[in-house]
Amino acid sequence: MNSIRPRRLRENENIRKLTRETRVSASSLVLPVFIKEGSGIKEEIKSLEGHYYYSPDNVPYAIEDALNYGVRSVLIFGIPKEKDVLASGAYAENGVVQQGIKAIKTRFPEMMIITDVCLCEYTSNGHCGMVSGNKILNDETLPYLAKTALSHVIAGADVVAPSDMMDFRVKAIRECLDQNGFSDKPIMSYAVKYASSFYGPFRDVVGSTPAFGDRKSYQMDYHNIREAIKEALLDVDEGADILMVKPALSYLDVIKEVKANTNLPIAAYSVSGEYGMIKAAAKAGLINEYAVMCESAVGIYRAGADILITYYARELSDAIKKGD
Ligand code: PBG
Ligand code: ZN
Repeated sequence: MNSIRPRRLRENENIRKLTRETRVSASSLVLPVFIKEGSGIKEEIKSLEGHYYYSPDNVPYAIEDALNYGVRSVLIFGIPKEKDVLASGAYAENGVVQQGIKAIKTRFPEMMIITDVCLCEYTSNGHCGMVSGNKILNDETLPYLAKTALSHVIAGADVVAPSDMMDFRVKAIRECLDQNGFSDKPIMSYAVKYASSFYGPFRDVVGSTPAFGDRKSYQMDYHNIREAIKEALLDVDEGADILMVKPALSYLDVIKEVKANTNLPIAAYSVSGEYGMIKAAAKAGLINEYAVMCESAVGIYRAGADILITYYARELSDAIKKGD
């Protein structure tokens, strides 16, 4: 008879926790925060239950709340009042994100601020770059992304996270930051970002649904995984410090593969549609929200993520404290 009995290590909670293979820490969690131009705003976001738009003057309340849960990093998005073809709001010295960063750093300098660097919230056509006819221009977009990233670190951002998927943008941003005395600011690159229908709720939140076409000429085709390594290695070459894979739950194989083929920290972004699916299924009485939240998050870490960006960051921080 075989003397190996796997169930011995599952007998009770103590032995299960002692022999657990995946251990997670709240210090790896990042909470997305949406800042809306204006003042006095705290407005519920309908397509992202439990999340609010804050104006720059009020955003410190969101930060205080996150810190109370033990979340020490946020990913900032901006919703400007005006959009135009040049995405002027993205790099305006006193743009919505720039104002928000300053407000946060004045009250809570200990909060780590990562900023999403993209143009789609600021372009009138909702695309992530400059447009000519129905083409999304690559090289013409790079200076605008670099300007945006620079304006964020000047305002006080700790890390910039380009999410546009233009070729060479990491290089363009790195050079621009270095030339302006910010060689110490890391770049978290959305290196492996798929053209995904899981972004649906988010585009509603920031009003960035493309006015024409889709994002398939710059974001990746979800049939591909070898291309993920190509994208990741290019960004390593261009000077990225952290690599992101996005979305997360349908791309666990990609997380594992990118981790195995690079030596940078890997961030996974569990996107708005993933959050929405759990919320909706829980509301329908089909699943236990808390349990599925924990199980999904651990799955992402087990695949190899070092950092998890999630709309559940606060609740997960509590769950981790409880040892779930
Ligand atoms: C902007 C950006 C998007 C998301 C993060 N940054 C949307 C998109 O690319 O269309 C998606 C986040 C989410 O769905 O939670 N480029
Ligand atoms: Zn974009």
